[in-house]
Amino acid sequence: MTVNPKQAAAEKAVDDFIADGMTVGLGTGSTAYYAIKRVGELVKKGFRLKCVATSAETERIARECGIFIVSIDDVDRIDVTIDGADEVDPEMNLIKGLGGALLREKIVASASASEVIIIDDSKLVEKLGTKCPVPVEVLVFGHSKTKKALERQGCDAALRVKDGKPFITDSGNYIYDCKFDSIDNPFFLESRINVIPGVVDNGLFLNTATAVVISSADGNVRMM
Ligand code: A5P
Repeated sequence: MTVNPKQAAAEKAVDDFIADGMTVGLGTGSTAYYAIKRVGELVKKGFRLKCVATSAETERIARECGIFIVSIDDVDRIDVTIDGADEVDPEMNLIKGLGGALLREKIVASASASEVIIIDDSKLVEKLGTKCPVPVEVLVFGHSKTKKALERQGCDAALRVKDGKPFITDSGNYIYDCKFDSIDNPFFLESRINVIPGVVDNGLFLNTATAVVISSADGNVRMM
């Protein structure tokens, strides 16, 4: 049987980290999709789980799977969140947000006792920014000025477009995909980006992941 690496990582994370009675954060994207499906299987087996969704799309898929969705504001804490990532460095720092859900993903991650990241090994990099831009969510108001301020940090900032129109996030904002040649100090960069007026949040997730489940094409799954 052909192994789907995204599915293998997602199922291992759900099986290893989710227990009956937990409050679980559900990530967004094509890898998190398989985690949501697996959580749906646990619910069918009788697990009593409360789940918080990181996007409208995740909420829709989860409800279809019979998963009980609650608002983040109605839970005291989230035991574990399982989510994908776009890049992971050797210190488990991440770039997230190519799927457009970075703001809710970051809020859910910060409310979670554990943040388990599920990836295939194509997402591993020595340095963040090697392959991907850093997505930055910005207010629509004044976004062209925010873009200039982002570019002063040394990147090319491209407004994300979908179907010929600016992509709108679940929170009604725009995203600029900021491509840096190299990110030597992601902590410094994050602090510079976050003080720009108009920036809502950015896709650098630093010191956030507590475990990373990595799959490869040969079916091997390992943990960082
Ligand atoms: C969603 O906004 C993102 O942070 C995703 O978690 C990330 O883009 C990974 O998505 P895939 O699993 O689809 O690659």
